[in-house]
Amino acid sequence: MAILPIIWAPDPVLKTKCRSVDVVDDEVRRLIDDMFQTMYFAPGVGLAAPQVGVTKRVIVVDVAGKDEKPQPIALVNPEIVWRSDATQIYEEGCLSLPELYADVERASHVKVRYLDRDGAEQKIEGEGLLAVCLQHEIDHIDGVLFVDHISALKRNIMMKKMVKAKKQRAREQAA
Ligand code: NI
Repeated sequence: MAILPIIWAPDPVLKTKCRSVDVVDDEVRRLIDDMFQTMYFAPGVGLAAPQVGVTKRVIVVDVAGKDEKPQPIALVNPEIVWRSDATQIYEEGCLSLPELYADVERASHVKVRYLDRDGAEQKIEGEGLLAVCLQHEIDHIDGVLFVDHISALKRNIMMKKMVKAKKQRAREQAA
């Protein structure tokens, strides 16, 4: 397993509509393991493959609280098959936009169909934070970031901050 570098916005890979996984093989399972390790190290509650530079429809989530048992879920080719009309507003962040947060309105309850790490078809229902997380991560594999759900004004301010932060990081890495 490996901790992979997380790509920061703005980056074309984060705007890419990712391709479906044909076969859940050892390579995909290795990606899933690396993504979990990367997510827990960050730490975060979800991570999508494009955030580590892989444009495949793979996401991992774990919304368990600090004192709870881990609840890792890996979803390959996840698809929202139902979303509630009722919505909730949650202050979201993203490992690709570190230290930036904004209120985002999404369905409060979703049902998602996906393949597990053995390639078996599964369904999961989520509400609360799990619903937020599933929708946020599935957005990622369609090239959508949480800032795409907020006003252009707020988004532009955040993206300017990210351009600065990326320049700063590049300088630090070069030094
Ligand atoms: Ni994210």
